[in-house]
Amino acid sequence: MLYRELGSTREKVSILGFGCMRLPTLGSYDKIDLKKANSLLDHALQEGVNYLDTAYPYHGISNSGGGESEVFLGAYLAENNRHDEVYLATKLPTWLLKEPEDLEKFLDEQLKRLRTDQIDFYLLHSLKEKQWFHLEDLGVFEFLDSAIADGRIKYTGFSTHDETAFFKEVVDSYPWDLCQLQYNYLDENIQVGKEGLEYAAEKNLGVVIMEPLKGGVLANQVPPEVEKIWDEVNVKRNPAEWALRFLWNLPEVNLVLSGMNTMEQLVENLKTAEEGLPDSLSALENEVMEKVKMAYHAKIRVECSACGYCMPCPSGINIPQCLSYLNQAAMLNDISNIQGQYYFMLKDTEHASNCLECGLCEEICTQKIPIREMLKEVKKTFGD
Ligand SMILES: NC(=O)c1ccc[n+]([C@@H]2O[C@H](COP(=O)([O-])OP(=O)(O)OC[C@H]3O[C@@H](n4cnc5c(N)ncnc54)[C@H](OP(=O)(O)O)[C@@H]3O)[C@@H](O)[C@H]2O)c1
Repeated sequence: MLYRELGSTREKVSILGFGCMRLPTLGSYDKIDLKKANSLLDHALQEGVNYLDTAYPYHGISNSGGGESEVFLGAYLAENNRHDEVYLATKLPTWLLKEPEDLEKFLDEQLKRLRTDQIDFYLLHSLKEKQWFHLEDLGVFEFLDSAIADGRIKYTGFSTHDETAFFKEVVDSYPWDLCQLQYNYLDENIQVGKEGLEYAAEKNLGVVIMEPLKGGVLANQVPPEVEKIWDEVNVKRNPAEWALRFLWNLPEVNLVLSGMNTMEQLVENLKTAEEGLPDSLSALENEVMEKVKMAYHAKIRVECSACGYCMPCPSGINIPQCLSYLNQAAMLNDISNIQGQYYFMLKDTEHASNCLECGLCEEICTQKIPIREMLKEVKKTFGD
């Protein structure tokens, strides 16, 4: 296993981390297949994986309660006496915080669930611009300071699926140790994006990547146009290997989390990690990656540059974001993941269904996009 230093913490983390959001189950998401999950962790740790990522709701029946992932990990680490072998990362469910007391309540509950008195990396989960001020008002920074001071957490961080500008604002608001962001070769210009990734690295913030295979879509639902490019390359790798190698090639990336739910996936990703050095792809391999990106991008529906001239929309619609979700859905063969984000990330008022067809956006659009028609398509695509 290769290791990289995690930002300014200088902790040496395995470049492949184990994401515990997609553990093997017995049919229903809240029923972890303990036997298989135990074997996966045994093997991952034996092969040098030393970073485990979980969160309060993972493997729960809804996002409003505690799931089974933390409970499983707590039992696994305590019963096998392995807490000292790994870095444990979990996340505070920010969307469930109502009162200042909730901050302490969740942390204490999570420590119990994880059967530990210290969490190595404690992240604010899924920060969104629309609720950020609420968290500041609850006193989240003072809470983090005090939990570090009394040793309940060692390092702080946050995860987000929001946009670059908001990401930078959060980065600059507190002396975080790490950030967790969605990144893969199709996400260079969405969410935090390449600009955010580079910003984090410049600030010497630990960078942990989530959804490196876009939740599996880049590995398992490859469109024929892309399949053809992979087939023509002399270097034989499957799509998951290419996607992971793309990330480890980036010096800004410290650690890539993957959600592996079979031994085959784990063994394969461990093998890929053996060659995951920064700047290790050849010029030819980088060219192939560019071709693949272009083949995906050729499938996009609308040439929006997200310049934002169309904003603010009098009805409150987040036009660039709606069009970005439409493009992402068009690139992939499966829209379910993107549909989830469309509803999770945007406020109700920002959805395409609020369009009154006033047309002000089209008068000012720098790309001459028929925005009203496109918003209808967004509405139809996501069943809005
Ligand atoms: N903070 C947040 O908001 C947030 C959000 C998302 C994720 N995360 C964390 O980040 C972790 C990683 O994200 P992710 O689970 O979405 O990672 P991912 O690696 O993009 O997707 C995992 C899925 O990819 C497929 N896969 C993995 N390895 C494969 C291989 N070698 N060959 C073929 N398919 C393969 C599997 O899909 P199938 O099951 O379909 O086979 C697996 O379930 C999560 O587990 C979680 O801990 C955090």
